[in-house]
Amino acid sequence: MWPFNRKGPSGFSSSSTAEEVTAGIDATGLTAIVTGASSGIGSETARVLALRGAHVVMGVRNLTAAKQVQQSILKDNPSAKLDAMELDLSSMESVKKFASQYKSSGRPLNILINNAGIMACPFTLSKDNIELQFATNHIGHFLLTNLLLDTMKKTSRQSKREGRIVNVSSEAHRLTYSEGIRFDKINDESSYHSWRAYGQSKLANILHANQLTTLLKEDGADITANSLHPGTIATNLFRHMGVANGIVNAIGRLVLKNVQQGAATTCYVALHPQVKGVSGKYFSDSNLSKTTSHGTDDDLAKKLWDFSMNLIKLRFQIPEIDRKCGYSAAKALLDSPLIPPPKRSPKACLWPHCHRATSGIGVETTRVLALRGVHVVMGVRNLAAAKDVKESILKEIPSAKVDAMELDLSSLESVKKFASEFNSSALPLNILM
Ligand SMILES: NC(=O)c1ccc[n+]([C@@H]2O[C@H](COP(=O)([O-])OP(=O)(O)OC[C@H]3O[C@@H](n4cnc5c(N)ncnc54)[C@H](OP(=O)(O)O)[C@@H]3O)[C@@H](O)[C@H]2O)c1
Repeated sequence: MWPFNRKGPSGFSSSSTAEEVTAGIDATGLTAIVTGASSGIGSETARVLALRGAHVVMGVRNLTAAKQVQQSILKDNPSAKLDAMELDLSSMESVKKFASQYKSSGRPLNILINNAGIMACPFTLSKDNIELQFATNHIGHFLLTNLLLDTMKKTSRQSKREGRIVNVSSEAHRLTYSEGIRFDKINDESSYHSWRAYGQSKLANILHANQLTTLLKEDGADITANSLHPGTIATNLFRHMGVANGIVNAIGRLVLKNVQQGAATTCYVALHPQVKGVSGKYFSDSNLSKTTSHGTDDDLAKKLWDFSMNLIKLRFQIPEIDRKCGYSAAKALLDSPLIPPPKRSPKACLWPHCHRATSGIGVETTRVLALRGVHVVMGVRNLAAAKDVKESILKEIPSAKVDAMELDLSSLESVKKFASEFNSSALPLNILM
């Protein structure tokens, strides 16, 4: 249980759960999209919105995981209306496909919850050649929102009910680079800092909601856009943090928010009548909260909007590009460096470390795991022999991901060195053999 549970002006506190902040609210007739609903805060948000009667569409990259979430929600709430649709926010093509399928389904859209996210991963480029955290956490949601805005406007007009866009940001937006958003250095690997880049993408979530507010007001649309910090919750989000992930999982579950509390602010901002007409605000613990000077910088919000818009237009070769606003930075980002494939897709690779992989069972284990798509790190005494093994595997499976690192299990010093090098590589580890 979260210890600091003093109630704020809304009547809720950091210990309020998503069910508590939506008690008595009837969301029947509303349709909501929740991105990243296959795990953590997103799955609890989907469960509680469905519990209140909303039709929830889960936008997920892992349909199998979403199916499991769906089944477990339906077990407790057989009348829940839930669908899952494939959506990879790190790929503009996938976002476009999702939006087009959603629109052609003819469904209305009252609530859009931009929740999916990745945190502090090693430097990686997305399929569109954009740093992965910025691409997933901001650009994917920016494009998704833009593509669904007409549907939301139409829904709010026809249903005469306010539409709501909810961006799940983080207090980590305070950790961003000193200039807020580094428009000309988004893809600069040499000065990349995994936490600052996460902070930058989360600041972008806030600025996106702020600028949307300005534009929706100008447009006279009955749609609000807000951002929020959900609290600190031990979820899969910490998967890139090595030892810290272990600590968060072991101790965090006792002292941090649980996932029911973690989804509260999202559900509050999405459904609560107290939030009616409130737009361009930042929430935390189901109450209004304060952001930084960057988070309230209207010029920065406008600059980010123009930059993101140009990125999208350039990517899809849409002719009406605004060459004054953010054009050169957006163009430079897409054009260079010319590294077409993503270097690592952290969630897509598994990193088992197979010791003694240079002979016998170890070699065959490595070969078969690599054949099945696993990224294998061979922990070996003899790097030359491991090189031969790697070459023979690559001959048979050219796409195999196999690496070798020196490890002598008879020497504690060597084991320590191996583990320390592995940890500092910040690679995830799913299987240890
Ligand atoms: N947990 C915290 O302490 C905390 C604190 C502040 C803010 N937040 C924010 O809360 C949000 C939810 O995080 P969480 O804690 O619930 O983490 P989580 O359990 O890891 O959930 C993140 C969700 O995002 C999805 N996702 C990641 N990359 C995606 C992509 N390219 N396309 C589509 N979906 C993608 C994940 O899908 P897969 O299952 O396929 O990976 C997962 O469903 C994030 O925006 C995060 O920044 C969390």
